[in-house]
Amino acid sequence: MRIRLDLSGMMRRAVPTGATPEGLGALAPQAAAAHQGLLADAKRGVLGFRELEAQRAERERVKAWAAAAAGTHEDVVVLGIGGSALGALALRTALLPRDWNARSSARRDGRPRFHVLDNVDPRSVRDLLDGVELARTRFLVVSKSGSTAETMAQYVAARSRLTAARLDLSRHLAFVTDPAKGALRRIAAEEGIPAFEIPPNVGGRFSVLSPVGTLPAALLGLDVDALVAGAAAMRDRCASPELRKNPALAFATLQWRAQQEAGQGAHVLMPYSDALRDLAPWFVQLWAESLGKRTPAGAHVGPTPIAAVGATDQHAQVQLFMEGPVDKTVTFIDVEEFEGGEYPIPADAPPELAYLGGRGFGELLRTECRATAGALARAGRPTMTLRVERADAWHLGGLFMFFELATIYAGHLYGVDPLDQPGVELGKQLTYCHFGHPEWRQMQAVWDALPPSDPDWVL
Ligand code: PA5
Repeated sequence: MRIRLDLSGMMRRAVPTGATPEGLGALAPQAAAAHQGLLADAKRGVLGFRELEAQRAERERVKAWAAAAAGTHEDVVVLGIGGSALGALALRTALLPRDWNARSSARRDGRPRFHVLDNVDPRSVRDLLDGVELARTRFLVVSKSGSTAETMAQYVAARSRLTAARLDLSRHLAFVTDPAKGALRRIAAEEGIPAFEIPPNVGGRFSVLSPVGTLPAALLGLDVDALVAGAAAMRDRCASPELRKNPALAFATLQWRAQQEAGQGAHVLMPYSDALRDLAPWFVQLWAESLGKRTPAGAHVGPTPIAAVGATDQHAQVQLFMEGPVDKTVTFIDVEEFEGGEYPIPADAPPELAYLGGRGFGELLRTECRATAGALARAGRPTMTLRVERADAWHLGGLFMFFELATIYAGHLYGVDPLDQPGVELGKQLTYCHFGHPEWRQMQAVWDALPPSDPDWVL
């Protein structure tokens, strides 16, 4: 396995609030119980994201369809939000060059440009729809429920443009949704739109290894098999109830312990890699929406995840991490080899900058990662480091699976269901009601009783 988790910076030897070996030993039964909980969940069939083999047939269908579609579209646009968008963004940023969309078709090897419209800001919607050539565009409408207002509004807007341009919808749309439920499934059947399945037991934020991620990846010519193989290898590696043999369990347990025992509930993920910078917001959504909950006993629990990127955030958030409240853990991702190799800093640097000359940008970035971890430890701030050989499809798959498993373990440790998100429902229902959705008329009274803006307090 070419992903290693270095926990040294979470231990008492490194920082005063860290865990002692005895303390970790005392947590072993809870960690083992979390692992048993995950196995029981798996037995109940609710952890579909681990069932990579069961998804093989649909994955092959995705790959075959994408291969047949090669060269037919200049732009591929994901319409989706939350777990239906963030994984595709992380994949794109990790596995495609930064200037991908600015490249000529030849420099993209005929592969499409790629866009993710994950909001309903009118400017973004207009810019996107005005900016693509509709006749050469495929919209991927991604929604597990097939009913999310933001995604459905985007879909209606795209569909309307396609219809006005007299384009065949089945050639310019594809859906990724539940196999049976929701509006998209019905529309796909009625209108002959290609539709791919998110297994019923795979929730939005756990869906990146389903067609939610693999369809965009396949259309972009990325290595879907390597992505899934990396994920499977990580899943198989995290099969032990023992902390020392299961990195996802160790990550979850130490994060949870940091909050329980040291009040460190802010969990920063800081890749020192531009390729992995969008993995951090993906993790933030996964950790926040899964774990920020009310327990059955009525306690409000959960960590507050924070996304950062090194070295950029050394000039933004690291001051806070170093000298602000001791309420955070920082997890670094240290990438050993960079896509395209090292880029040298030329030796002919001016005398004041001679210390840089002849070194490498990758060397500088990795040194800064080690230096920041060391500085935080010196300041008594707990850290962990995920060492990753390179940010390719295989390792990215491994990282996705690592964090997804850790989230399930953390759910058991915090005593919450990591697979639901009841806290987001009220806001959704009020929006539906205000828009006149027939199923949510009864929320009008709640809407009317919302605290009004008080003119005395509007400055
Ligand atoms: O993780 C989740 O379940 C959510 O963030 C969903 O992904 C998000 O709400 C979008 O839902 P859907 O895919 O049903 O449109």
